Amino acid sequence: MTEFDGFVRLDTLPKSLVRELLDETRQLKRNPPTDEPLRRATLGTVYQKRSTRTRVSFEAGMNTLGGDAVFLSSDDIQLGRGETVGDTARALSRYVDGIMARVHAHDDIEKLNAHADVPVINGLSDFNHPCQALADAFTVEEQVGALDDVRLAWLGDGNNVCHSLLHVFPRFGAEVAVATPEEHRPDESVVGTARRFADDSGGDVTLTDDPREAVEDADVVYTDAWVSMGEEGKDASAFEGYRAEPSLLDAADDDYVFMHCLPAHRGQEVVDEVIDGPHSVVWEQAENRMHAQMALLVRLLS
Ligand code: CP
Ligand code: NVA
Repeated sequence: MTEFDGFVRLDTLPKSLVRELLDETRQLKRNPPTDEPLRRATLGTVYQKRSTRTRVSFEAGMNTLGGDAVFLSSDDIQLGRGETVGDTARALSRYVDGIMARVHAHDDIEKLNAHADVPVINGLSDFNHPCQALADAFTVEEQVGALDDVRLAWLGDGNNVCHSLLHVFPRFGAEVAVATPEEHRPDESVVGTARRFADDSGGDVTLTDDPREAVEDADVVYTDAWVSMGEEGKDASAFEGYRAEPSLLDAADDDYVFMHCLPAHRGQEVVDEVIDGPHSVVWEQAENRMHAQMALLVRLLS
């Protein structure tokens, strides 16, 4: 069993560990634990931004494992009035067994990780969303099959969620086609890492500004908000041609699945007919966040 002590980004974790976490997710989903492996453990959960899925899946997951989660909004704790991230990490480490944090600047997650004496889990930053991508890799295996046989099309903004998908799917041999407006492409460093992973595994990574080219024959079509949290006021007009709607998704494989990390902005990046349609697996995808995070919590907090 591979040891690890935090979950800040997926690309720097050993591939064998990611594989183990996916397998443990499957086991936990099939056989929910009844023996309270995290009895009396406490997870501190820090939020600088809103959340529905991350918050509830971590709280319910900790509860299922016999432990507890403490909700710490940055509006309510001293972090919100100037206590440093480092001091917050040092103080929380004296009370809790692990820290999950959702932050604006990715650097805050790195600082928490550097100064905490307990494992830190990244619950989304402006750079990445590894909990989402871990659960999504599980969902694709569950719904579509082996990752090395999958073509995933990304539509929209190449930011945090896209980055984490690029950190996992090409590593397991998947073909990832990213369609974004030119000025919203994923970071070059992420694309470079993803291409190295793809070279090692037989996967592929392509970037295009043509959504139809990306969607052609895709097994998975994935989209996310055009305007992420913290970007309010951004001009989203460049994304108009990237909406997940039937006239575009008709180009995908007949059995494609539609995925969205959620929350969805119906009528913007996706229309009702797609998200509520027969190809959509978004609710299974949302449920799987909890199973994947329980696998992570058992490993990190036991
Ligand atoms: N996908 C996701 O992280 O959802 P929340 O913002 O609701 O946590
Ligand atoms: N890209 C979105 C993801 C939300 C889960 C955001 O950062 O708001």
